Amino acid sequence: MNKIELLNIYKIFGKNPKRVYEMLQAGAPDDEVRERLGAVLAVLDVSFEVKEGEIFVVMGLSGSGKSTLVRSINRLYEPTAGTVMIDGMDVTSLNTKELRELRARKVSMVFQHFALFPHRTVLENTGWGLEVKKEEKATIAKRAREALKLVGLDGWEDKVPEQLSGGMKQRVGLARALATDSDVLLMDEAFSALDPLIRSEMQEQLIDLQDKMHKTIVFITHDLNEAMYLGDRIAIMKSGRIDQVGTAEDILRHPATEYVAAFIQDVDRSRVLTAASIMEEPIAYILAREGPSAAIKAMRERQVSALFVVGPERRLYGTALDEEVIKAVRKGESTLDNIVHYDVPFVEPDTPISELLVTSAESHLPLPVVENGRLIGVIPRVKLLMALGETPSVNNIESNKEGATDSGTVEEKRGEED
Ligand SMILES: Nc1ncnc2c1ncn2[C@@H]1O[C@H](COP(=O)(O)OP(=O)(O)OP(=O)(O)O)[C@@H](O)[C@H]1O
Ligand SMILES: [Mg+2]
Repeated sequence: MNKIELLNIYKIFGKNPKRVYEMLQAGAPDDEVRERLGAVLAVLDVSFEVKEGEIFVVMGLSGSGKSTLVRSINRLYEPTAGTVMIDGMDVTSLNTKELRELRARKVSMVFQHFALFPHRTVLENTGWGLEVKKEEKATIAKRAREALKLVGLDGWEDKVPEQLSGGMKQRVGLARALATDSDVLLMDEAFSALDPLIRSEMQEQLIDLQDKMHKTIVFITHDLNEAMYLGDRIAIMKSGRIDQVGTAEDILRHPATEYVAAFIQDVDRSRVLTAASIMEEPIAYILAREGPSAAIKAMRERQVSALFVVGPERRLYGTALDEEVIKAVRKGESTLDNIVHYDVPFVEPDTPISELLVTSAESHLPLPVVENGRLIGVIPRVKLLMALGETPSVNNIESNKEGATDSGTVEEKRGEED
């Protein structure tokens, strides 16, 4: 379900915005209007929907219109044209009182630098949004405590802001927004002022929180890595307009414009791409019931020195190694039962590839990708290393697929590379 819908939003600063808007509608090019009229075209014809429970990231360079756009959603800025819908309600037609109500109950905002009251405790700062709503004192304290716990600040309730680090202050800001219990969070560069380590901690924490709370979040950032890490979907903004909306993977694999392609050049792909996106069809496997002789045949045909052993529906049982299979045949054994190694390291399809290297280093087999017990794919180490180094542009996005040839084969020189 759509929680937020933006329909053809414009925000124009300067003299006579309506007139400027009409000129744009009549087809005047953006740049000409900018030059001739000196108008600031901050947001131009932006439409998108944010689904319930989604983290929707708007990203773009400084001045591209991100803050203006997000402020148009709760009408901190009055859009020059267009419609904003939240929960099917037309926000653009609300009167002042209704708007205040909306901001107090439904839509909270977290800024890059927001003011904490210096003489109030962390708990009081956190409960501030509820105080404005004139909630009962006991309710405020309870909800503020819960919110502080969610952001990992339990035990800090009675401190004052100057006793906190920058990261902790930012957490109080987040807790304040969470305490109000509104289901929409608008976060404008909320983590941008933090140093990199704390920033990635906060990003991880937001993802954890989101798993529990299922808010609908519009997150503004100019950092593509942050956008890719957090965003269920990402909108890329340029000069007031949106160039592309898509998942991180859509954008990495199929950048819609040269601008987007240039943008993604130096993204940290390892945090974005998942095991599922680079896995290949497994071929070096054998059904457990087939036995040792069939295993030798399969290894010879595929020129590999180990196989995955699977059951019905390709359920992953384990692996079988060449020398042990040969011994089993010599002993006249009819099953693989005695030689299967059951403790195979595997990964899930949605594991980011940054987390695959460690698991992959543990084994000389391609990394098995397992979903509900079934072997759904394998990632040969070369494939993983290539993916970590991949840098596509608009024209060669598909070309790196050609590197994927020996699907699923097991490294022949097992044991020699360390
Ligand atoms: N209140 C205002 N009055 C006039 N111009 C404004 C106002 N607010 C923003 N602008 C202009 O609108 C354009 C978009 O600004 P905005 O702050 O939305 O960009 P941004 O993408 O958030 O940038 P940053 O990454 O630096 O925060 C800029 O040219 C800015 O100067
Ligand atoms: Mg901004």
